[in-house]
Amino acid sequence: MRVVIVGSGTGVGKTHVAQALAHELRRTGVRCAALKPVESGGREDAVALGQASAFHVKPSPLYPLARPVSPHLAARFQGDEISIPRIVEWVNRVSQGVEVTLVETAGGLLSPLSARTTNADLVAELLPAEVLVVAPDRLGVLHDVTALHLAWRALKLPPPTTVLSCPPEPDPSTGTNAAELELLGIVRVAAVFPPGQPDDQPSATVASEVLRLLRGGSPAQV
Ligand SMILES: Nc1ncnc2c1ncn2[C@@H]1O[C@H](COP(=O)(O)OP(=O)(O)O)[C@@H](O)[C@H]1O
Ligand SMILES: [Mg+2]
Repeated sequence: MRVVIVGSGTGVGKTHVAQALAHELRRTGVRCAALKPVESGGREDAVALGQASAFHVKPSPLYPLARPVSPHLAARFQGDEISIPRIVEWVNRVSQGVEVTLVETAGGLLSPLSARTTNADLVAELLPAEVLVVAPDRLGVLHDVTALHLAWRALKLPPPTTVLSCPPEPDPSTGTNAAELELLGIVRVAAVFPPGQPDDQPSATVASEVLRLLRGGSPAQV
């Protein structure tokens, strides 16, 4: 199974959620690789995902971009250009022998990868896959998730699974957003990752439920 992890923006919890899923897969004996094909501003995510995975992939990221700016711009600064076919070929190659591959995209759904492409094009090229949208359980998420899902429908991508993750600094909306997203008819949130470490017990419980849903299970009765 391939799971592409897409964000409603940057700093929304994509790496945290990917780590939690990878830890849970590893704990349950599933051969999993969590990948970050494109990373700007360092290799922190690729390293964290590698540590959480049962499989180690090198080189990761495929495109290590030094400047902490949009991937298309960071690549341009170093005289490079991000190629989606090259990412797809890399993901296919390093996924051999792996049962579950998690692919964390850089930035948000519509963050540019080049002058002509965004993460949405990468998602389309990585299909068939399950797509997990991660958004933060904080103020602003009602707008950001509405905008993401409008774009999603316009792009005719297959329906994703949506989760929220608790921000490092909760605000008065934290804890209300999942219910509001459903009440307002925007999206049904499959799970909310609690505050804490991605490998702690509360995160593992949520990760296990999300993996069950991604594998085609129906939502747990609450
Ligand atoms: N459920 C959570 N509990 C605690 N901290 C979280 C949680 N989700 C995200 N964070 C923190 O929020 C920040 C942004 O999350 P991160 O996963 O790095 O976002 P992204 O990968 O989308 O840029 C990080 O400092 C991360 O540790
Ligand atoms: Mg990240």
